[in-house]
Amino acid sequence: MKITRERMLMVSCLILIIATSVLFLMGFLCFDGFGPIIVFLSSLAICVFSVKGIQEYHFRNKTKHPKFMFFIMRIVLRIKNNPRKIKQLLETVGVRENMKILDYGCGIGSYSIEAAKIIGKSGIVIGVDIDKNMLKTLEKRMKPSGATNIKPLLINSLEDVEDRDFDFILLIDALQLLEDKTGIIDSLLGRLSTNGKLLIKFEHFNKNEINSLLNSCSCSDKKLIYKSYWLLSN
Ligand SMILES: C[S@@+](CC[C@H](N)C(=O)[O-])C[C@H]1O[C@@H](n2cnc3c(N)ncnc32)[C@H](O)[C@@H]1O
Repeated sequence: MKITRERMLMVSCLILIIATSVLFLMGFLCFDGFGPIIVFLSSLAICVFSVKGIQEYHFRNKTKHPKFMFFIMRIVLRIKNNPRKIKQLLETVGVRENMKILDYGCGIGSYSIEAAKIIGKSGIVIGVDIDKNMLKTLEKRMKPSGATNIKPLLINSLEDVEDRDFDFILLIDALQLLEDKTGIIDSLLGRLSTNGKLLIKFEHFNKNEINSLLNSCSCSDKKLIYKSYWLLSN
């Protein structure tokens, strides 16, 4: 079997997870009082840092994430996305009733669901992703949340999306996973309606990288909304 960097990384991650589980067990078996809590927190920290490390490795080396990372991503998205804050943000940037919205790299649909509730039954959100399990989770979440005006769509690239003239396009926490970053921003800008807006949330980019990306794309207006959220228009 060929030893690749990818395989070495998987093996290191496995070793880390086993070591973490052993530490965790030891904590409960060998210590009293605060011992187990301290060991549990250290194990958790090791897990979080190893996952973060693998993520950074793939972003920096521009390699594809292994499948198990998408599984972890689904869990992380459930924990970190706060529906109340997302709703507030979408209303602040101008998402209104009746709009047609594209959520590019929608994941489990945290933003799609909140957008769908704001635009109401007469609007539509098209939630697209390359990962079928993300879309399956989104489909499961739609009915209980009352957001039935979402069309989940499995894609390989933007070319698979037939619709155009979107009032809003969301590109939240997904740009870092795409290869031609300026190209995709320009293509998304090209899918906006006359007064349409593109909302980008930059994750895993430093200030210089964000500035150079925003300067190289074809938008005529760009505005920093909040933290790493930028609103772009033609
Ligand atoms: C970190 S998640 C963010 C999900 C969502 N936007 C959110 O903030 O809750 C990134 C998502 O982008 C998707 N993705 C990665 N590459 C993609 C591509 N080429 N086209 C569409 N989606 C992609 C992943 O499957 C994943 O669901």
